[in-house]
Amino acid sequence: MKNIAVFASGNGSNFQAILDATRSGELNATIQLLVCDRQNAYCIQRAEEANIPSFVFTAKQYESKEHYEAEVISHLKELNVEFIILAGYMRLIGPTILDAFPGKIVNIHPSFLPLFPGKDAIGQALLANVESTGVTVHYVDEGMDTGPIIAQEKIIIDKDETKESLEKKVHDIEHVLYVDTLKKLFNQ
Ligand code: GAR
Repeated sequence: MKNIAVFASGNGSNFQAILDATRSGELNATIQLLVCDRQNAYCIQRAEEANIPSFVFTAKQYESKEHYEAEVISHLKELNVEFIILAGYMRLIGPTILDAFPGKIVNIHPSFLPLFPGKDAIGQALLANVESTGVTVHYVDEGMDTGPIIAQEKIIIDKDETKESLEKKVHDIEHVLYVDTLKKLFNQ
């Protein structure tokens, strides 16, 4: 059984999918902590409802990234967390956390990387008028969505696609792909 922490900044639908898979026994992991950088994010409520502790912080209240990352690490170590799972966490992971968890940080990104890294990847794909986009699960390095790819899935963009319809397709695939990929990493 792997002890994991999920980092999220928003709605937390991927957090929920991972949580459900741990609770059903499908995924051999326990979420020890939710780490969130936005006070009003819905993922915090999801954690509360599931009795999962959360560490919620405001980056601006710290002297530097190094300072808040050091505090995050102290919570993770206390809870024996082995893996960090980023699920819509909209901050770059700095060297402090990268050095403390080498090769143990995974992210999901809503595009077929290396295409459309960074913010609003779904909007970027629509604007670029491409025929397909996708979802990527990858290890995290110091770059923005640049680490080694673990799994990817393509998504066709239909002619009458809207931002809302594409977001739904992306999220539906993310929830399945993330859990399946984590199963391969943890259920050995
Ligand atoms: C997901 O689509 C995730 O891939 C994306 O944020 C969304 C969070 O949704 N992450 C990134 O763009 C990271 N660069 P959720 O809060 O409902 O899980």
